[in-house]
Amino acid sequence: MGTGTGIIALFLALAKENIKDFKSKIIASDISENALKCAKLNEKHNNLSNEITFIKSNLFASFPNSYKNSFSVIIFNPPYLPSISNTDYSDNHNNINENNDLTWDGGKQGFNIILKFLNQSKFYIKRSKRSHIYYITSSKTDLDLFYDILDRNGYKNQIIEREHYFFEDIILNRIDSMNF
Ligand SMILES: C[S@@+](CC[C@H](N)C(=O)[O-])C[C@H]1O[C@@H](n2cnc3c(N)ncnc32)[C@H](O)[C@@H]1O
Repeated sequence: MGTGTGIIALFLALAKENIKDFKSKIIASDISENALKCAKLNEKHNNLSNEITFIKSNLFASFPNSYKNSFSVIIFNPPYLPSISNTDYSDNHNNINENNDLTWDGGKQGFNIILKFLNQSKFYIKRSKRSHIYYITSSKTDLDLFYDILDRNGYKNQIIEREHYFFEDIILNRIDSMNF
C-alpha cells in the first residue's frame, strides 16, 4: 500500500526470484499516478517486468472484490506526520496536484490515514495465523492517542522495531490478522 518509488514491492519481487517457496502475487498500489509511474520505471530498471501488479487506488477503494480476504501480508509506510498547516491533505484525495503533501501528511494527529487503512485492511487480509499487517508510525505521530484508539477498537498492536533517524523515531508496527 502506498508503494511510492516501489521500493518494498521491488524488494519482495527480488526476494521472490531467490526464494523457491515464495509464490505469492505482489500487488503494489498508490493513490498517486506519478508514484505509480515511478514504481513502474524502477521495476523496469531492475529487470523485474511483469512481476508486480500495479493498482491506482485510494487505500483499498479500487481493489477488486476478489482481493478480499486474500492477502498474507499487507505493508504500508503511510503518511504519518501531523499536518503543519490547517489544510489536512490526508482527506483531500479528490484534489491531488503535483505539490500535494500526501506523501507525509497524516492529518491533525498524524494517524488519519493509518486508521482508515487499518479499518479497511481487515476486509483484505487473509484470516490465518500467518497473515500480518505491517505499518510505520513515528514519534511525531500522536502515539498515546493512536494506540489508545487501537486498544478501544480491539486491535492488538505489536511494536516490532523502533529506531531513531534524523528528527524522529521510526516505529515498525504489526497487527496479526487474528487480532482484529
Ligand atoms: C511515506 S510515502 C512511502 C513511499 C514508499 N512506500 C516507501 O516506503 O518509500 C507514502 C506513500 O503513500 C501514498 N499514499 C498517501 N495516501 C494514500 C492513500 N489514501 N491511498 C494510497 N496511497 C496513499 C503516497 O502517494 C506515498 O507514495
